[in-house]
Amino acid sequence: MSSRYILALDQGTTSSRAIVFDRAGNIVSLAQKEFRQIYPQPGWVEHDPREIWGTQAGVAAEAVASAGLSGKDIAAIGITNQRETTIVWDRETGQPVYNAIVWQDRRTAAFCDELKHSGHEAMIREKTGLPIDAYFSASKIRWILHNVPGALARAQAGKLAFGTVDSWLVWHFTQGSVHVTDVSNASRTMLFNINTLAWDEDLLRLFEIPASMLPRAGSSSEIYGHTADNLFGGAIPVAGIAGDQQSALFGQQCTTPGMVKNTYGTGCFLMMNTGDAPITSRNNLLSTVAWQVGGKVQYALEGSIFSGGAVVKWLRDGLRLIRTSSEIDSLARSVPDTDGLYLVPAFAGLGAPHWNQDARGALFGATLGTSAGHIARAALESIAWQTRDVVRAMEADAGVPMPELRVDGGATVNNLLLQFQADILGIDVVRPRITETTALGAAYLAGLAVGYWHDLSDVAGQWQLEHRFAPAMPADDVARRVAGWQRAVRASIAWAD
Ligand code: G3P
Repeated sequence: MSSRYILALDQGTTSSRAIVFDRAGNIVSLAQKEFRQIYPQPGWVEHDPREIWGTQAGVAAEAVASAGLSGKDIAAIGITNQRETTIVWDRETGQPVYNAIVWQDRRTAAFCDELKHSGHEAMIREKTGLPIDAYFSASKIRWILHNVPGALARAQAGKLAFGTVDSWLVWHFTQGSVHVTDVSNASRTMLFNINTLAWDEDLLRLFEIPASMLPRAGSSSEIYGHTADNLFGGAIPVAGIAGDQQSALFGQQCTTPGMVKNTYGTGCFLMMNTGDAPITSRNNLLSTVAWQVGGKVQYALEGSIFSGGAVVKWLRDGLRLIRTSSEIDSLARSVPDTDGLYLVPAFAGLGAPHWNQDARGALFGATLGTSAGHIARAALESIAWQTRDVVRAMEADAGVPMPELRVDGGATVNNLLLQFQADILGIDVVRPRITETTALGAAYLAGLAVGYWHDLSDVAGQWQLEHRFAPAMPADDVARRVAGWQRAVRASIAWAD
């Protein structure tokens, strides 16, 4: 193996990122570009698929060039992506027929409610591991087919393709010759049977989606195709695909049952490896495919929190309380506590464990003394509170307390957040040396497929502790604050009803 590096592409909700890793799992170069968030109506969230492709291809080239490398230095590309986000395009032209409908988009909530009321919930959960919710792709594909003039007929004639963002990127990297996804992304569409690992005919019928639109659902670590020559000056194998949360679980090396990570990205996603069989949650978590590597499938329990780092972006772009995301730290530290203020950031409804599609964001406990500092602190704390709700649900499912929580993602640079997280969980919160574990997971998946690494024992020593946050808040203080948060969540749900 003469190529010395792996290129990981992390196509997230707000930015496209590309990271070059070396064999020791070190970051050699990184490029990142934010792209437009399109909000056509309240509750609707779209991306322009061409911007997704343009920014992702752009940062990929930039990361390679800024490390002084060329295509021949890259052994393989791994792709990891925002999940569920739905793109439908014309097979002939490669042009999208509509914007990407983003995972946060709620336009299909009423349709999902109808499905629930007509008694489909148990069947869908049994097949897919998912609760019925507008979050997943199926109702979004259906919306496009029913609302874009002519789309349904073109789809029925085999002219349209559907893909999550990974499929869209591979299609373009291979100039339309490969239409594929992996089982982890497929498991987020609500069309994929996670027990049989196949697209499900009953679900396709229920959502009125022609099977011809679907990509092949491959494993998470295999050579799917090669990049077109003109992109990197030579063909590079695309050899790893995983949804970003599953990829982070892999990058954190949570490869044995019971291991848990939380990624603080636009949302927050807790995942527990449950081994070679899906476990049905009794506490409103979802079951999902973690990955398939070398013929072996692993599953996970997941608690999906819709607004994590999104609250920081809201403070920056919506309220304009800060100019850069990192300024939230000093603003939050300008006050000793929130003075009883709680933010329930249900901007896109509430995900696990509440699953309320209609809840909306709310601030509770504001007084004339409430300052921007209090709001910033309540915003940071809201990320930790939502995580606590999911940790408790996961512990109830597992029947044992969680020993510690491995964390990663952009917001984990914030020590105030992680200390508060440890305080209210009462367990250690553990930050690794490399917090770009989403991209690292995709790098591992791609590298394993091409023999850059032979097996997981090759990378076992690469997970290293950077900082351990131990709980320090007195128990009665925690209890008082927990009660406040729970009241706030209840009130926000009651408002929606
Ligand atoms: O399910 C949505 C998730 O994949 C989005 O991840 O990192 O963009 O918040 P992120």
